[in-house]
Amino acid sequence: MNPVINLERLRRDLEELSQIGPDPRGGVSRPSFSQADLEARSWFKEKLRQASLKIREDGAGNIFGRLEGKQQEPVILVGSHLDTVINGGRFDGSCGVLAGLECLRIIQEKGLVPFYPVEVVAFTDEEGNIIGDFLGSRAFTGYLREELLREGLTHFGRPLKELLEMAGLSPDSILQARNEAPRVMAYLELHIEQGEILDLEEIPIGLVTRIAGKRLYYGSFVGRSSHAGPTPLELRQDAFLGLADFALRSTRLVASQDEEGRLTIGRVQVHPGAFSIVPGQVDFTLDLRYLEKEKLEEMEKKVLALAEEIASMRGLTFHYLLVDSTEPTDMSAQLISLLEEEAKHLHYPYLKMVSWAGHDAQILGQITDAALIFIPSPGGLSHSPEETIRWEDLEKGTNLLLQTIMKLAKI
Ligand code: HGY
Ligand code: MN
Ligand code: MN
Repeated sequence: MNPVINLERLRRDLEELSQIGPDPRGGVSRPSFSQADLEARSWFKEKLRQASLKIREDGAGNIFGRLEGKQQEPVILVGSHLDTVINGGRFDGSCGVLAGLECLRIIQEKGLVPFYPVEVVAFTDEEGNIIGDFLGSRAFTGYLREELLREGLTHFGRPLKELLEMAGLSPDSILQARNEAPRVMAYLELHIEQGEILDLEEIPIGLVTRIAGKRLYYGSFVGRSSHAGPTPLELRQDAFLGLADFALRSTRLVASQDEEGRLTIGRVQVHPGAFSIVPGQVDFTLDLRYLEKEKLEEMEKKVLALAEEIASMRGLTFHYLLVDSTEPTDMSAQLISLLEEEAKHLHYPYLKMVSWAGHDAQILGQITDAALIFIPSPGGLSHSPEETIRWEDLEKGTNLLLQTIMKLAKI
């Protein structure tokens, strides 16, 4: 009989983890290197210890729990991330890490010895809470923009160095992570879909074929602050109106020309920010996504040109800084075939689909065969306190993960 996972134990783990970093608005806030994130890391290491897995933490704070194989290398890596967006859900990332841990525990408890070692990993800062996305998996693979690290820029004004120090890390230790990485045979990640397709189709498993690329920018319109009373409307250099105009026109532009493009302005700060002052500056974040690199680059050019045009029409200046650039990535065709085979053995219906959200699998896909298994997000909500799962779907996804790990590790 094939071994199966212990859903009750996995569920307890997820429920315990979701108690770390509760947000008073609902859901969880566990941004990287916050007190909550540090607590979640300790909690996870304790779980690894209880499971008698060999613990390793690299220079980027990525945490590994290893089940030895008959061979030292290459390693089969399985995991995701423990950090969350601000006011996020309980399942994004956590499901993948804890499903990986559960698989390793089952293999060990059944007294099975893999030929190749298997490691569960929790990657640091997948959500890009401090600089761009995927700090940990980029450090692990070596696809890291060193200048961003060195500039020490963070979203929240606190110097990067200070944040890293809280976790005993530094820009230099992060750059070392690549040199500490073992040779990897494959990377498997289980994740919630974060959209509504599987739920609407009533299919428990998604096998991801491709992950969309993205560009993250900081943008600013700069005008001139003046008095809200005496300054006539036509004489203002109102930075906020520049952004308002840009938000609507860029969204219309993408919707009309790039049916498959995505554009989001997720954070806005108006300066100086008072009833009686015409805003002199507005800072914002811009998130652009596409499934094809050329289309993404075209969209990027059009949107930035539009911002320049609006700025010049309104007597403003437009400034921007690229903080993250992730290319669209195919998942491994070989691993998808293996997952299809295993899903068929388990009699689990599945759907091949794309992912519009970014994942560590996208970064690992640069150095190894990588695969992403989706389970449904009922209601399609994610990056939201309303994010949820059905336990029976998690059970299926984790059993599929277990069987696939066993095949790859030659158990
Ligand atoms: O934003 C994303 O694509 C992911 O959730 N990090
Ligand atoms: Mn996320
Ligand atoms: Mn995630």
